[in-house]
Amino acid sequence: MKTLSLKNLTLATIISLLFSACGGSGSQTAEQKQDSTVATTPAETAMKDYIKDETKEERDARMKWWKDARFGMFIHWGLYAIPAGQHKDSVLRQDQIGEWIMNSARIPVAEYEEYAKQFNPTKYDAKEWVRIAKDAGMKYIVITSKHHDGFGLWDSKVSNYDIMDFAPYKKDILRALADECKAQGIILCFYHSIMDWHHPDAQAPHFPEYHTNKKSNPNFGKYVANYMKPQLDELVKNYDPAVIWFDGEWIPEWTEPQGKDLYNYLRNMKPSLIINNRVGKGRKGMQGMNENADAAGDFGTPEQEILEGKSDGLPWESCMTMNDTWGFKKNDNKWKSAEMLVHNLVDISSKGGNYLLNIGPKADGEIPAPSVERLAEMGKWLNVNGEAIYTTQSLNNYKEGETIRYTQSADKNYIYAISLKWVGKALNIKNIVPKEGSEIKMLGVETPLKWTYDATKGLTIEIPKELQADAKRPCKYAYTFKIEGTEK
Ligand code: GLC
Repeated sequence: MKTLSLKNLTLATIISLLFSACGGSGSQTAEQKQDSTVATTPAETAMKDYIKDETKEERDARMKWWKDARFGMFIHWGLYAIPAGQHKDSVLRQDQIGEWIMNSARIPVAEYEEYAKQFNPTKYDAKEWVRIAKDAGMKYIVITSKHHDGFGLWDSKVSNYDIMDFAPYKKDILRALADECKAQGIILCFYHSIMDWHHPDAQAPHFPEYHTNKKSNPNFGKYVANYMKPQLDELVKNYDPAVIWFDGEWIPEWTEPQGKDLYNYLRNMKPSLIINNRVGKGRKGMQGMNENADAAGDFGTPEQEILEGKSDGLPWESCMTMNDTWGFKKNDNKWKSAEMLVHNLVDISSKGGNYLLNIGPKADGEIPAPSVERLAEMGKWLNVNGEAIYTTQSLNNYKEGETIRYTQSADKNYIYAISLKWVGKALNIKNIVPKEGSEIKMLGVETPLKWTYDATKGLTIEIPKELQADAKRPCKYAYTFKIEGTEK
């Protein structure tokens, strides 16, 4: 609900609002009072510079839950789920992503707004969504509070272009999700687009190519100060997200100093907040890591890819779709197999990264069945093998050959050798030295396995006959051997 335009707020108006909020003349609604809090946001008070002044220890402590978590759910949901890849006669190609339809199909703002007037996700069930994430073994959820199309999934007082004011649904989607995440013990995080194709002071005037690298809106600073920051205030203060995951930072209007300012602005509001590197201009292409060490942001964001090796410092999270699109597209059936998704999670974990795996719910609120099935498979695998993934550290040599990945328990007592294929009668590995007389187990199997070690031949672990049949194995896709020992 919008009660006054922040765009036009001058210092004098803010002072007069504060005056009337304190019992001054004139009547005022509750929303106006809330809007007037903009005057007391950290921008106006002394700001701590977290980029310069946070120690490595402080940073590590802040990032600990996130690094331990390893696996999260990305949710791309918004108006684009209604056209689902087709606007009038214009059908997106397989390589065109669903949430970009406003730009790709060159839809004018007013025409795209018609989708907002239809958005009524009556099947949205926050409880079920969180259950699906939790059963998949995911520890956090990152949902699009606002994507590039500018539509907000929460009740924003700064804008009418949101689920409460513009759509028939009239329920706060993020509120329901925040409540359920709390109830079920999942950590809530928000994706937020800096680029905004709907706002007149941002990219809307760039139509028919909202996403342009040539033009720059001279009023962009106003959008940042009077719209984007106040919306972020609402999100941080009212929904308490643990991560803000920015995107759309590549537009010419956005600069690294603005990114650093935004980073500090938010950290001053909520010091424990974690913010990705797309807050500034630091990342290099889709590989997603930073060009310069002093770039803003707490973690790198490889997109649709996994780092070749380990990161030499910056924590990272690989975000990925299960088919080829982030936002729902009815014709995209190019699903990755559950096996590939498990293998990706293992590969990423061995390199010390996180996996942020996307779902694109339909316009009515239903999560596509192929996504639900794959997530359930991953959950089954993690039920057996989770201790080799969560809270683990990586080894210097995180892999051996093409099919073995290693992780290590946080106390460094155990090494997990994860085989990406069934090993047959015996597993032979060269990089690990087992502790004398220690037990070696396959996760999910009670009885310890027989093994021998020889300095030249390495470690050989025997797999008994009774485990050879598919149905007798503890899981599918990848098999973990828990070894008390050290890296060679
Ligand atoms: C790209 C796309 C965006 C998507 C994001 C996810 O930046 O522009 O649509 O949300 O990737 O990482």
